[in-house]
Order: sequence, then structure tokens, then C-alpha cells
Amino acid sequence: MRRVDRAGTEVPGVRSGGRGEEGDVKTRVTDMLGVEFPILAFSHCRDVVAAVTRAGGFGVLGAVAHTPEQLDVDLKWIEEQTRGGRYGVDLLLPAKYAGAEEGGLDPEAVAQLLPVAQQQFVQEILRRYDVPELPADLRDGSERNALANVSAKGYGPLLDVAFAHDITLVASALGAPPPALIGRAHDAGVVVAALAGTVTHAERHQAAGVDVIVAQGTEAGGHTGEISTMVLVPEVVDAVAPTPVLAAGGIANGRQIAAAMALGAEGVWCGSVWLTTEEAETHPVVKQKFLTATSRDTVRSRSLTGKPARMLRSAWTDEWEDGASPGALPMPLQSALVAEAQHRISRAAATEGSGAQKLANYFVGQVVGQLDRIRPARQVVLDMMTEYAEVAQRFADQLSEEADA
Ligand SMILES: Cc1cc2nc3c(=O)[nH]c(=O)nc-3n(C[C@H](O)[C@H](O)[C@H](O)COP(=O)(O)O)c2cc1C
Repeated sequence: MRRVDRAGTEVPGVRSGGRGEEGDVKTRVTDMLGVEFPILAFSHCRDVVAAVTRAGGFGVLGAVAHTPEQLDVDLKWIEEQTRGGRYGVDLLLPAKYAGAEEGGLDPEAVAQLLPVAQQQFVQEILRRYDVPELPADLRDGSERNALANVSAKGYGPLLDVAFAHDITLVASALGAPPPALIGRAHDAGVVVAALAGTVTHAERHQAAGVDVIVAQGTEAGGHTGEISTMVLVPEVVDAVAPTPVLAAGGIANGRQIAAAMALGAEGVWCGSVWLTTEEAETHPVVKQKFLTATSRDTVRSRSLTGKPARMLRSAWTDEWEDGASPGALPMPLQSALVAEAQHRISRAAATEGSGAQKLANYFVGQVVGQLDRIRPARQVVLDMMTEYAEVAQRFADQLSEEADA
């Protein structure tokens, strides 16, 4: 991958690999991105993105819920904080969603499409768990816009902002990136990544011209398929060779990075591990739940977005699994349906023993079971790389001992 700056000049050093210093891990992905370590961090929180980039990894800002104005502010901030460090932007570009034929729905149209049964069910949950109303000044319905950006109408302005900044990578989930996006990225020397939960998704991305495929196993937090990382990664690596693959889902320490590299990945893409970092803006009650949760405490549920997404199991997910549930609506209607309820739950969850505290949850993967302390994001990166180096050394020692025997 040739990387050029906005003026079309090739950026020195990147074509030939990262900084090439001792301790760096060199793969085709670190070469493409010009980073020291093959750790990509997905986060909605700009502080995490900047901290990971500063630590030698590569931060990717999840921008699906941003307005274009917020995105511009956050990208400027990341650029200042990292002093020109490498980072990326991620958007959800689903192939299938309600209103796809029209290029997306405006908030009024979304409100019209919310069936009475589902609206009543949400109100009933809030009533039974005694979740207070929002104060009048917060009742403006603005949360309804959540996930409106999954449509072409919604993400276009976000991409304009992203490409006006010095991004190194643009990533998309839930569908292959459209040809116009791939063309625009390549013209600007920006690497295109896309998430895949099956070999078929990965092949589709490769045919579309994606540069890096993120093979994401079912263990992952957020929207996820049914195949485990252990099975998916080598399948995808073989199917799309020579396109480089990152492993995602269930990776939060150096041993898991070593496993991913053994499966043929050229780096890892992690989401859950950042949610309990010092910098993360995770709701304090949810952060506490994450710190005590076990790897059995997540569930794939449609209850927040309408598509199956892995999240912490809570009274909220249990209610939607219950026989009395009318079932979730398709994306993006479910997000619009539950947005105000989620806002109410977040505001009330701080009260010890409250119903809102029982309902509170968030997207997280099965590695939540190993997230048992709060660390700075930089420390997470360094801990991961130290452990990875120990494993790599152990493998090397085992081989040489065998040769000596
Ligand atoms: C809180 C949260 C939100 C996520 N939202 C998105 C998203 O908007 N776009 C996306 O491409 N992936 C999203 N993901 C998935 C991550 O990009 C990543 O693939 C996943 O977290 C990797 O598995 P892990 O959670 O086991 O680290 C999200 C994950 C989490 C935990």
C-alpha cells in the first residue's frame, strides 16, 4: 500500500514499514499503517484512540453516532494529541436496514414506523423497573437520531469530514464498503478495512477492493456472527490470501495476540478491552459490572440495535428474551425505539439497588471475564506487547530446545 499525503507526495518510511526500531513487530499491516505494534483499537472514545496511537498501536474512532460537527472536533483533537500520529475512522455501513431502498429514513419517518406493541413494551419495562422520566429540558427526542448514520444520507457527511482530516484508515462493518468509498479512500492513500464474520463476507470485501479484512469471531462485543475466532481466522486467511487479515473477537492479552498471529493474522483488532480503561467513557455502573462479570455473562441480543450484537446480559436483555417480548425491530428502528429509554436508564443507574441499575448494560465481548482492573490504555498496549514477546520467545526456545535434543 502506497501512502501519500494530501498533496500527493509519498510519505517517507511508511512504504518500507513502521519505524523499524528494536521491539517493533513487523507485519504487512504495521507496514501499511506505519505503526510499531500490530494492535488496532476500536473505540467510540477519542481519548482511547489517541492513547493507543501514542503508545505505538493504532486507534480507530467509531463514528456511527457522531454528528459531522462532533466528528470534526474529535478528529482535530486526536491529531493534536497524537502530534500527527496514525489513526482511523470506523462507520457502520449495513447492506440491509429499514429504508435502504430510499437511501435512509429521516427521524420523522422513523418515528412513524415504530409499532405500538413495541412502544408499549418499552414503556412497560420502564414502569416495572421504576425508571424515572427525563427532566423536561432533556426530553427533545434527539436520541432518536442514534444510528440514523447507517444510511447513505447519514454517513456521507461523516465521510466528508473524515477525508478532510489526515486519516490513515477507514473501516466499515455490517456490509462491504461501497465502490465510491473505496475509490475515494484509495485516491487519498487511505487504507480500507472491513469487518467479516464469515468467509463469504470476507470474499465479498476482497472482491470490492478492501485492503485489510478484519475477521471477527462471535466472542466479540458489538454486532457479531456465530463462528468463533479460532475457527474463522484461519478460514478467512486462506480464503482471501494474499489480502492481510486482522483477528478480532476475544483478544485482550498478549497470549491471545500470539494465538491470533499463529492462526495467520497480521495483527489484532480489539474493542472490549478498552471499555475498562481509565480513559473510557463507559458508564461507571456498567464499568463496575464489567469488572465483576465472567465470560458467561454476555449474550447476543437484538435489543439495542435490531441486529444481533454481543452485550452484557442484564434485566434489559432478559426482558427482550422473555416470551412476553414482541421482538426487536429491524435496524435502525430498534435503536430509535429504545434510545430515550436507554438515556433514562443511564441517568438513573447510579442509584444503588435501582431498577435502572439492573437494566443497565452495554456492548461487550466474552473477554469481559478477564477485565478485572482499570488500567490506562497505554498500559494495556504495553502489557499486551510484553506478554506477546514472552510467548514468542517461549515458542522460539521450545523449537531450539528440540533442535538441541
Ligand atoms: C462497545 C462496542 C461497540 C462497537 N461498535 C462497533 C461499531 O460501531 N463499528 C464496528 O465496526 N465495530 C464495532 N464493535 C466491534 C469492534 O470493532 C470489534 O470488532 C470487537 O470489539 C472485537 O472483539 P472484542 O470485543 O472481543 O475485542 C463494537 C464493539 C464494542 C465492544
